[in-house]
Amino acid sequence: TMVPQQEAFIGSIDQGTTSSRFLIFNKAGEPVASHQIEFKQIYPQPGWHEHDPLEIVDSVEKCIDKAVAQFEEQGHSGKSIKAVGITNQRETTVVWDHTTGEPLHNAIVWTDTRAQGLVRKLKQRLGAGDLQSICGVPLSTYPSVSKLLWLMENVPAVKECYDKGNLAFGTIDTWLVYKLNGGRKRNIFVSDPSNASRTMFMDLKTLSYSDALLDFFRLDTSKLKLPQIVQSGDPKAYGNLASTVLQGIQITGCLGDQSAALVGQKGFHPGLAKNTYGTGCFLLMNIGEKPVVSTHGLLTTVAYDFHNMKPSYALEGSIAVAGSSIKFLQNNLEFIESSAKVSQLAETVEDSAGVTFVTAFSGLFAPYWIDDARGTLFGLTAYTTKGHIARATLEATCFQTKAILDAMGKDSGYDLKELAVDGGMCNSDLTMQTQCDLIGIPVIRPSMRETTALGAAIAAGLTVGFWKSLDEFKDVNSQGTSTFKPTVSAEERNTRFARWEKAVQMCRGWAS
Ligand code: G3P
Repeated sequence: TMVPQQEAFIGSIDQGTTSSRFLIFNKAGEPVASHQIEFKQIYPQPGWHEHDPLEIVDSVEKCIDKAVAQFEEQGHSGKSIKAVGITNQRETTVVWDHTTGEPLHNAIVWTDTRAQGLVRKLKQRLGAGDLQSICGVPLSTYPSVSKLLWLMENVPAVKECYDKGNLAFGTIDTWLVYKLNGGRKRNIFVSDPSNASRTMFMDLKTLSYSDALLDFFRLDTSKLKLPQIVQSGDPKAYGNLASTVLQGIQITGCLGDQSAALVGQKGFHPGLAKNTYGTGCFLLMNIGEKPVVSTHGLLTTVAYDFHNMKPSYALEGSIAVAGSSIKFLQNNLEFIESSAKVSQLAETVEDSAGVTFVTAFSGLFAPYWIDDARGTLFGLTAYTTKGHIARATLEATCFQTKAILDAMGKDSGYDLKELAVDGGMCNSDLTMQTQCDLIGIPVIRPSMRETTALGAAIAAGLTVGFWKSLDEFKDVNSQGTSTFKPTVSAEERNTRFARWEKAVQMCRGWAS
């Protein structure tokens, strides 16, 4: 007789811009338990955005304990969780003293534009034009390097620590892995290539640090400690959890959140793409085993680098503001009581009545890269209501997605047949229909939308043989999908888009 095998699971830490989560997935890729904690957003000045690095770690550990408690209430045992994966907000920069393990400043968040002046100067430096061909990322306030250089120039404690040769730099993956392993004692100091490709320090082709890049930024690596770049699915390098109820469980997967969403949407083949409407919005297309450098305002990034496989790359269009614009309507303008109400408000009107909202709170990212743009409302009349502004807010992300798709077609040579979507804003049918009408191809929304967390679980699960190959995911999350189909003419689409592009050009220079 066969003894029934104990069901096994994989845990997934999703450390995002506004909240931390822990989810537990079964072999069918379904979440069986989860917990989410929102943490403090610190805005010390216009354009500045910080997180408390210790609060981030604390929120993650609490999520693990709470989700596992829920899991055990269902009759499962924490012991059945075979490994843990990590996915995280990218670029956000933490600095600490490696002799103490204590952070030297708040984390500077990816949306932060304080390095604008510094970036302007760097752009004048000889060789600035060659950087993107090495690292895939255009010089702007977005990548970690601008945040690190700002800290070194403006925070004496950071500069002193660097001069003493003790300054540790990390993106959130690195910081979390370090702290979850107990910090200084074990000193696990690593990053995966999908995260490291957001720093501007890594050569995309070799997946290691580039002397040319570090020299350009005049960083002395005998003074600055950079995490070791290891595979996204390394079986040993990420260590294990030093505390929480899952103490001792190995971390065997690590991916930047947008790479994780591509994986969670099963974007395993060249030409497959997904768009995640989170705090920001990020469209990634798998381009296979060779990095293609964009000439149309996109960036190139590592999609994933799994155990015993060749690395895969992606072209990416990054939009700084998406869900955060809904939060803006809620918290700053007090138009709505909760984000979920935004569609309802937008549906009180038939269209935006000529209102265009360029939601450039952090400048504009892809494909425009205008650091000194700021949020601007166009076309207000005495007729304008909150509904029109809400509608224009939703449209802003859809217009930028359209601009990115056009660029992606030119850069990749692939014409997208449909767009897979996920993330909070995709719950709005109105937004997804608007998106579909603007891009003129079907928009496909899966029923299980925790694709980012699933991606990290996949990374960790593949490493330990919980899943054996990417083929196993063919049927995962393929039931109950919603499809949106275009309902407007190409002519109307182009007229609307032309007006958006005009508004974008009018935003230039506002913050310089
Ligand atoms: O590049 C920033 C990105 O990783 C943040 O993702 O989901 O918090 O908007 P999200």
